[in-house]
Amino acid sequence: MRWSHSLSLAALVATMVAPAAVGKEAKPSSANNVSSAEVPAGANPQERALRTVSQMSVDEMLRLFVGHVGIDLGVLGGMPGVPPPAGSRNSAGFVPGVERLGVPPLWETDAMLGVGNLRDKMRPGDTATAFPSTLLLAASFDPDLADRTGSALGSEAHRKGYNVLLGPGLNQLREPRNGRNFEYFSEDPLLTGLMGGAMIRGIQSQHVVAAAKHFALNSTQVNQNTLDARIDEGALRESELLAFQIALEQGRPGSVMCSYNALNGTPTCNSPWLLETVLKKQWKFDGWVMSDWGATKGADFANSGLDQQSGSEIDAEPWFADALRQSVQKGQTSKRRLRDMALRIVRTQFRLGLDRFPAARTEPFDPEPGARMALEVARRGIVLLKNNGILPLHQPEAIISAIGGFADRGVLRGSGSSEVTPTNGKLFVMPAFDEQGYEAVRNPTFLPSSPVKVLREKLPLAMISYDPGMGAKDAALAARNADTVLLFLWRHETETRDSPDMRLPLGQNELVEAVAAANPNVVVIVQSGNPVLMPWADKVKGIVWAGFPGQEGGKAIAEILTGEVNPSGHLPFSLFRSHEQLPFPELPNQGVAFFKPVTVNYKEGADVGYRWLAKSGQSPLFPFGHGLSYTTFDIANPSVGAVKPLRISAVVRNTGGKAGRAVPQLYLTQTPGEQTIKLAGFASVLVEAGESKSVQFDVDPRILANYDAAKGKWVVRAGSYNFALGKSAGELGPAIKVDMQTITLDP
Ligand code: BGC
Repeated sequence: MRWSHSLSLAALVATMVAPAAVGKEAKPSSANNVSSAEVPAGANPQERALRTVSQMSVDEMLRLFVGHVGIDLGVLGGMPGVPPPAGSRNSAGFVPGVERLGVPPLWETDAMLGVGNLRDKMRPGDTATAFPSTLLLAASFDPDLADRTGSALGSEAHRKGYNVLLGPGLNQLREPRNGRNFEYFSEDPLLTGLMGGAMIRGIQSQHVVAAAKHFALNSTQVNQNTLDARIDEGALRESELLAFQIALEQGRPGSVMCSYNALNGTPTCNSPWLLETVLKKQWKFDGWVMSDWGATKGADFANSGLDQQSGSEIDAEPWFADALRQSVQKGQTSKRRLRDMALRIVRTQFRLGLDRFPAARTEPFDPEPGARMALEVARRGIVLLKNNGILPLHQPEAIISAIGGFADRGVLRGSGSSEVTPTNGKLFVMPAFDEQGYEAVRNPTFLPSSPVKVLREKLPLAMISYDPGMGAKDAALAARNADTVLLFLWRHETETRDSPDMRLPLGQNELVEAVAAANPNVVVIVQSGNPVLMPWADKVKGIVWAGFPGQEGGKAIAEILTGEVNPSGHLPFSLFRSHEQLPFPELPNQGVAFFKPVTVNYKEGADVGYRWLAKSGQSPLFPFGHGLSYTTFDIANPSVGAVKPLRISAVVRNTGGKAGRAVPQLYLTQTPGEQTIKLAGFASVLVEAGESKSVQFDVDPRILANYDAAKGKWVVRAGSYNFALGKSAGELGPAIKVDMQTITLDP
């Protein structure tokens, strides 16, 4: 039985209880031994794959092209129950292998916040580390951290029996109301590209394929299946495509997932321009393209560069089975193309060692390395936005009033296919929607890591009360006599849904007003997966942005509030003052009936986020790149080391009294004849009090260039360029002038 696809797979995912333990060091399975006898494992992946594919029948190749939903969709509610294919492991996806030739199946799982287990229904009780949101990881501005996080995540996936991780999500935060931004990195292509690429490297170091998604311009959720996202080619190349391109160069992912939406009139999964010309020819991508779940609409998509149909049960047909076979028989798809599709999948498997290091469930599962990594990411990502001397909490015997955010229970997480069942306790779900129904994905859900509980442990002499913040008056009373008020605010986000605006829900702005009127010493801690409006920012003494901080998030928040950890996160997006500051003050197409065709013309082009604000002469509430520390830094002594390639160095000095991590940033501010602002480099450096450290920025020429779509080239014009060192896009030092010769680069 089939269903025509009408919903994103957040509602429809899965895996199954897997076979017994084999660790990473495991010997190849017997199936693999067959192949290694025929094709020496030492041979290079291309040769081995060519020889393997040359022995495949058409049927065997077709098996590799049709992905299946790896669970019985009935368990998620709202869909008829059909058992998943034999061999699947109750996860998002499964693709059978070709055992006789040593090609293993693909066991695919979501994704970047941990090994997915949607609403704990895919594999009830199967826990994995619930990592902080990708957006919080990005706030570290540290590719090394992203690499290590990827590797911890890859290791968990592998130990759970999965060899494909369906991520990372590299979409730009173009639309700050997009419900999935918490799964993405930033509003900047360089930051996204370098962090995403590093994460891919980490994942794949564990013999797990990373699938970079959602290619491309999948900037919103509602009606994404019928969305035609329109943008000028040059602008696209300079923004989101640049993020993908850099990540691909840095991380060489085994797979790329094309998206639900259309791009300039053509579904991305059926776009020869995007998949064949840009991705495979110009960028030399040698892995395979998989569709998003339900995004394949015909066998002809194979002719456009799509190599694998994912989640075929939610498409109208398993197009890449019989329909594709017939297409080959009729000469509409070439046999060569078919072999290329198989070669891409098999070569990637051999390159990343999926055959030699089979993914298998390892019991008992050791949650410790993941938990440690999750804690480190939360500590490094949480951003101190404002601090009028109130933090760190310095009075051990203080009376502290903690209010709101279910902070006595845990920390918020985002929802959708990225959901994980944490290893450290039970989830707390606000059952706003029927927990059995499809809309359950919208229920705000909290991971079991209470900041209030940890604060009570860390400050045993303090008196810490908790008020849920349900009523502004009650909260104001609770706040009135405290030395310090810790006010926890939140906004939930979920896949399948965009927020209609950037406001905090449920009267939380009024709550801040009432509490701030009752007590001058308020610290606000915001948990969100997107920029939110903070109309009360002037009325409180401290503001912390904690993203969705993952299963160890409560601890990290408490450590930052007490000063045990010196904050070092920096905003990976701009915090706007109002909706009027956005290119689209109203979310486009809001309220249009589900599945009606919609169009968005991204008129801001490449000027996303901080670049849009600068171009339109507006100042944000807090700029991109902003983040405070409990020490102070000076970033100075710029020098231009070389021009081709361009290298700019500087010295970071810790001018305060505490060790801390600085995130010096380099921005391009002027090209010949034009003012601009573009992140051109960044670093994350640990500096002891009083110490100085030098940092170097190697500037990618594409940051200086414009993409000339008519010529099909990146062009850096000859002339004078200005750069500036800064602590954020809004706090820049003096101009550093560099004269450049013309540079022309292939796309
Ligand atoms: C989502 C993907 C996800 C896939 C499998 C889709 O609905 O858009 O991000 O990887 O489902 O769960």
